[in-house]
Amino acid sequence: MSTLPPDITPEIIRTGLRSRVIGRVLELLPEIGSTNDRAMAAGDGGTAEGFCVLADRQTAGRGRLGRTWASPPGVGLYTSILLRPKAPLSSLPLLTLVAGLAVTDAIRGVAALTARLKWPNDVWLDGRKVAGILTELATSASSVRYVVVGIGINVNHSADDFPAELRSAATSLFQLCGRPIARGLLAAAIYNGMDNWYALFCQDRREMILEAGRLRSATLGNPVHVLAGSEDWQGQAVDLDPDGALLVRDESGATRRVVAGDVSIQTPG
Ligand code: BTN
Repeated sequence: MSTLPPDITPEIIRTGLRSRVIGRVLELLPEIGSTNDRAMAAGDGGTAEGFCVLADRQTAGRGRLGRTWASPPGVGLYTSILLRPKAPLSSLPLLTLVAGLAVTDAIRGVAALTARLKWPNDVWLDGRKVAGILTELATSASSVRYVVVGIGINVNHSADDFPAELRSAATSLFQLCGRPIARGLLAAAIYNGMDNWYALFCQDRREMILEAGRLRSATLGNPVHVLAGSEDWQGQAVDLDPDGALLVRDESGATRRVVAGDVSIQTPG
């Protein structure tokens, strides 16, 4: 499709947008390879922070750990946000949490559903994945040039819109609230939420971010399986540390800090 679909238009976005910085400069595209690539090119070109790109379809959508993010037209939300935080590299994982808080706020506001955060980058509804966040950054020497936060949400998908292998693990807002959601309104709500939570990040009020993250966590308090590099172990997820890393008590009773890798929640039985 070479024109924008009716639920992603400048008019619809404008109806919902109340942000000061995030999404005030916005590119709406019928199709792109990856919105993260587009936002990174904007970052390289010197575009100011707050720039967002939103596409109806991606032909090369990326997920974490080199996975593909299936991005069919008409049903999903695919957006990326360019940020230029003046913060040390170590605190950047918190930006994924900031985005998770914005996404869960937006889902509540637009679809009246309570989503939870599965560390580090998944958003869950009803025990299934409804959204994913991919945070990428560019550095020079040891300082951060820019960060791109990419967000993919399963919005109006029916079960048939998911690849067969994902059907039991994925869900959509439509499947849970029973009515189609205007993706432009959801995007505007995400930009509003990012504006609020990112402002707290910039003011170094990380305790507020962490406390909201703990309350919305699907991971904390549960037995988890950690796969990081060649290591594979189990424990109990106990807390988030000040940088947003996951603290897991292993079977020997030691608390280990997890910063990357795959963490799956063990369900009883
Ligand atoms: C994950 O769960 O692995 C993260 C998925 C992130 C997907 C989004 S869709 C918009 C942005 N552009 C991409 O290529 N990826 C992110």
